[in-house]
Amino acid sequence: MSSPLRLGIAGLGTVGAGVVKIVRQKAALLAERSGRPIEISTVSARSRGKDRGVNLGSYGWEDDPVALATRDDVDVFVELMGGEDGPAKAAVEAALSAGKDVVTANKALLAHHGQALAQLAEDKGAVLRFEAAVAGGIPVIKALTEGLAANDVTRVMGVMNGTCNYILTRMEDAGLSYDEAFAEADGLGYLEADPDLDVGGIDAGHKLSLLAAIAYGTQVDFGAVELEGIGRVSIEDIRQAGDMGYRIKLLGVSRLTGRGLEQSMAPCLVPATSPLGQLVGGTNMVVIEGDQVGQIVLRGAGAGEGPTASAVMGDVLDIARGTRLSTFGQPATSLKRATPAKATTPAAYYLRVGLMDKPGALAKIATVLGEAGVSINRMRQYDHAADTAPVLIVTHKTTRAALDEALAGMGATGVLSGDPVALRIEEV
Ligand code: NAP
Ligand code: HSE
Repeated sequence: MSSPLRLGIAGLGTVGAGVVKIVRQKAALLAERSGRPIEISTVSARSRGKDRGVNLGSYGWEDDPVALATRDDVDVFVELMGGEDGPAKAAVEAALSAGKDVVTANKALLAHHGQALAQLAEDKGAVLRFEAAVAGGIPVIKALTEGLAANDVTRVMGVMNGTCNYILTRMEDAGLSYDEAFAEADGLGYLEADPDLDVGGIDAGHKLSLLAAIAYGTQVDFGAVELEGIGRVSIEDIRQAGDMGYRIKLLGVSRLTGRGLEQSMAPCLVPATSPLGQLVGGTNMVVIEGDQVGQIVLRGAGAGEGPTASAVMGDVLDIARGTRLSTFGQPATSLKRATPAKATTPAAYYLRVGLMDKPGALAKIATVLGEAGVSINRMRQYDHAADTAPVLIVTHKTTRAALDEALAGMGATGVLSGDPVALRIEEV
């Protein structure tokens, strides 16, 4: 058997401890599958004395992850600290500069610095892999870079933040308010240290930007992702969308069109009976559409010790086997800079409008929609006791520009009793 592949692991939290457990508990399996033993030479974390539920006694220790990354007894640097800058970036750069292969689970780092790091890896003849950074245990990077490599990808979409899906599911199942469901997710330890990364859609936006780069052969452009979190999703919308046959999901959608690269991460409606509509709790789902393969649906655990460590180890085994793939599936120099485009692909929309309950109010709204060229597909007015009539409208496919014109027109009618809610309905 060949010489051992020696790992240096920086970060011994949820994911890092999971990786140590797999290396310790599955040594024989890993060696059989990769053709060489996988060993840990050195580890690093902030606090050396912390009990991590794993035996670290035989490994070397470095306080400084940058020093770890460049040690002679480290063949692969495994970055599991997190953070878009700081020690994670410094240590990954140091490892790549020293020609060492790197495996990371850090979507923030890759979303912000992916192009430069991929370029550095190639310049130094090193490999940079990040399967665990997107959708946890789902091998979606592998699917896109390898299994689907012969396809022109037409759309990538999905639910990529388990915390948001958990919150939306609990609002629907248990009738909890957003604040109550958020508190429950917090109590279960689901939220990132900065919860806005989850509920603001940022974490999921990072993941979408990485998938888009591979899918379309473009440079990662997280800054161009149109981002909206779930903070404004109300229990009324969840109930009334359900009544119309839909579920609300924090949905990422990317497409490369003639106008440029559309990347959007925002609450959307999907048919309740579709695979995305059926996705409940903290699970993730990624849907990929290719010109040859049609639609592929990948579903699984998007986070947690076992699933995320599984993805990290998949990358480590590839390196042990000698597989040397480019970070984004093609040489970094060949990745094009895409023109960012607003998501203007026509779609149906869900509108919830509170109308003053007086003669002609509904007619005014219908007229404004017609004048903007927005056609009504379905409409429902609910029985009501107060002076405000809740009206739901599902439009035919229209552009966002036409819808915005109609929303502005509605505001000028003087018959609204609050701001209308407009949510895109994604065809799946
Ligand atoms: P975590 O539990 O917070 O662990 C972070 C680890 O990094 C800790 O062991 C911490 O040390 C160490 N660390 C932080 N700053 C350090 C520094 N300056 N020097 C040395 N060590 C440092 O985080 P995690 O959940 O395992 O996540 C790790 C990475 O995986 C992140 O990029 C995250 O986005 C990604 N990820 C996580 C999941 C998940 O389910 N958790 C899923 C997908 C991707 P101490 O323990 O001593 O404080
Ligand atoms: N905060 C992320 C989520 C964890 O809720 O999906 C893994 O990226």
